[in-house]
Parts: sequence; C-alpha cells; structure tokens
Amino acid sequence: MTKKTLDRRLFMKGVGAATFLAGAAGVPLAPANSKGMGHASMSMTYNLNEEFNRIGSNDFKWDAIRRGARPYDVPFPMGVADMDFRTCPQITAALQKRLNHENWGYEAAPADYIDNIIAWNKKRYNIDVPRDNIVNCLGVLDGVLSVLKVFNTNNEKILIHTPGYSGFFSVIHQAGFGEIENPLKMVNGRYEIDYDLMEEQLGDNVKILLFCNPQNPTGNCWTAEEMRRMGDICNRKGVLVIADEIHCDFVNKHAKYTPYASLGEEYAMNSFTVKSASKSFNLAAHRTAYMYSDNAEYIKRVIDEGGHHRELLHTMGTIACNAAYKHGATYMDDVQAYIDGNCHFLERFCRENMPDVKYKVHEGTYLAWIDCTAVAEKLGDPEDGDTIGDMLNKFFIQKAGVNINAGEHYGKNGVGYMRMNLGTTHRKLHGALNAMKAAIDAI
Ligand SMILES: Cc1ncc(COP(=O)(O)O)c(C=O)c1O
Repeated sequence: MTKKTLDRRLFMKGVGAATFLAGAAGVPLAPANSKGMGHASMSMTYNLNEEFNRIGSNDFKWDAIRRGARPYDVPFPMGVADMDFRTCPQITAALQKRLNHENWGYEAAPADYIDNIIAWNKKRYNIDVPRDNIVNCLGVLDGVLSVLKVFNTNNEKILIHTPGYSGFFSVIHQAGFGEIENPLKMVNGRYEIDYDLMEEQLGDNVKILLFCNPQNPTGNCWTAEEMRRMGDICNRKGVLVIADEIHCDFVNKHAKYTPYASLGEEYAMNSFTVKSASKSFNLAAHRTAYMYSDNAEYIKRVIDEGGHHRELLHTMGTIACNAAYKHGATYMDDVQAYIDGNCHFLERFCRENMPDVKYKVHEGTYLAWIDCTAVAEKLGDPEDGDTIGDMLNKFFIQKAGVNINAGEHYGKNGVGYMRMNLGTTHRKLHGALNAMKAAIDAI
C-alpha cells in the first residue's frame, strides 16, 4: 500500500464511506485516471501528504506561535497565512543553483522574469498584464502602501469591506490614514457587498477603495457582476480601486476568479492590481511582489511622486518567483485540488461531528472563516480585557493545541468567527478537528 493510499484512507475515515464512494468530498488523491472522482482530470504529481517539518526555521506560523503559547503545546498552528507543504522543487533547485555562485552584489531579476509574470497571468486567467506598467514591490502590502501614499491626497479614510484582511488595517494606519468599514452582508450563507452603504460612505471625499479578491477572510471570489456594480460606484465618484489579488491562485473547483482589471477598460484604467507568487508557492519571506495598472499615468505617479522607484528586488526572491511561474503550474493545480478537498472535509466534519462550528465550503483562498458563535456561548463571558475572539483563541490553544485567528482582527463584524488556515495536510487537519471536537464536547 502506498503512502498516498494510507493517508487518503485516514482522511476518508472522517468523511464517511458514502462520500468516498460518491466522490462528493472532492478528495484530491484520486488516481489521475479514475473516473467519477472529484478530480479525475487533475494530475497529482506532488505528494502533498508529506508531513514536512517546519519547526526550527524561526517561522511565524510554527515557531513563533509555539513559543508564545508555552507552556501549552500547539501541534496544529493554523493561523498565519502560509502553507505547510514543501514548496515546488523546481523553485528550490533554482535557488540552490544561484547559491553556488558565491557573490551577492547588486543584480537584476532573471531576464525572463517579466515574461513569466505575463505568461502565468495570461495562461491561467487570460489577463493581459501590461508589460510596461508592471512595478516591482517588496510585498503586496508594500505596493498598497505606495499607492495609498500617492493617491490619498486629501488624507481621507480608506474604504474596506469587512470582515477584511487584518493587514489592510495595519497598512492604512502605516500610511497615516484611517479606514471606513463597509460591513459585508450575509445573504443565504454567502457574504455580499452592501452597495447602498458604499454609495453613502464614499460620499464626496473618500478617494480609495482597497479590496481583496479572492477575499480574505470570507473566501469569496467576487463575480464580474458584483465587481462591476462596485466598480461603477467607484468610477462615478472618482474613487480609485486597489485590487489585492494575492490569493487568486487558490480557487475551489466550483468557483471562479475574475480579475478586476479584466472587467473592461473603465475598470482597468481606474485601478491597480497587486499580486505575487508568494501565497501560491509559500515564498512570503522572499519579499517579492508586483503591481500593475493599465493606466500608465497612475504607474508614473507611483514612481515619480511616491518614491516607489527602487526597482531592484531581492536576488533570491526574483529567482524563486520566476521559477514558480515558469515551472509551477502543475504544483499549483495539485495544491488547489488538495485545498478543495480540505474545504469539503472541514464542511462535512463540522456538519457531522462538530455542529457548534459552522462552515460552508468557500470559493477562494486557503482560509476558512468558521462560525464559532455557539462555542463562545458555551464558554460564557471572556476574562477581563479579553475579547470573545481572544477567549476562543485561548480555548482552542489550551484545550486542543490548535491556533486559529480571532474574528475581531478582521473588523467589528468578525466577532464569534475564527479564521482557520487549511494550507496543511489532510492528516493535520483531521487531527486538529478531532482535537477541537473533543475540547468542545468537554465544555
Ligand atoms: C489579502 C492579503 N494581502 C496581502 C498579504 C500580505 O502580502 P505581503 O506579505 O506580500 O505584503 C496577505 C497575507 O496574508 C493577504 O492575505
């Protein structure tokens, strides 16, 4: 029996045999040629079931969280948004090759660096990234920061949808501004944009909407119709759109990522898109990202007025990103399918075994936004100084060894929710869920 079979069996145990036979869980380990399975046409080239040990690299997700949680052990850190998988081997090979050349003076990105950014976006999403309007940035948030500084000329607040990525709050504050929360509305189990409220909030002064697609933490992939409606309001009111599409490579099988800039000229000309290979291939510490706009004038302003002119990037970062986009398509397909399987597993596990946690398979990102309101109610009032999210975070760390992030980090309407990172092996996810269930049952 192969390792893959063993792990798949373990994974399927929590799902139930009926699901396995029906293939309804979208389990990604079906052989490439097996008919009727969720991913029959998907090759599974990489062994994502490998229990890759990240401990000891001084990373945030494992080492920092485990240090901070002492004396409690945290075998399941599922907070910080990066993944537990070994990265695509062609990336490591490219980095190793460069390491052998023992000189680290100033140097340019690989000659085909921009070509590969363009090719990746064209092949996977049919977007024409404008070659002359691509700007390097150290990270996606660094790109956002530059745009905020240049374009928010009247120091107004920046509009964001909430629940929304916690880094949006920080980057807006770092730029010296404040935010206006536009709470998403829950309609039939899916978050929707409150367009009427957006109209009101944008008023005459607000100049920028910072939005995220696929959305962290709700997991929405905004449809073309949703984004047009949102973009029309912005265009009419002269509001610039910054589209953070860092999670675009993580889209579940039933969903679709529509790039904001693909909606039409009026949307492309009034927006920036900020992206990187860093989420997709777990390269966050390589600090390499890019942004673009169809509007050459916008790019010129960022460079001329924003001081965003340091085109040089990290040597290893550009090598890693280049190798990822050049060689990583199959790896990315495998990771997407694997995450899709994790999402279905989580949904079924909650429904069948852990009804106090509510979750419906989301559309994009590897982050699950789970409703833990019932658990919070069982736990009662938080200790003095703690939020409900702090209480839930401590409960899951101390009683289950699982670290997940408090919903309040993502806006006022995040109370009772937690963000759980599914970028891990089936085995770890299953272990975490069993531990959470046991902890909740024991309240
Ligand atoms: C939506 C979103 N944008 C940006 C970032 C951070 O990107 P970077 O580290 O490249 O600034 C993250 C990381 O989790 C994210 O989820």
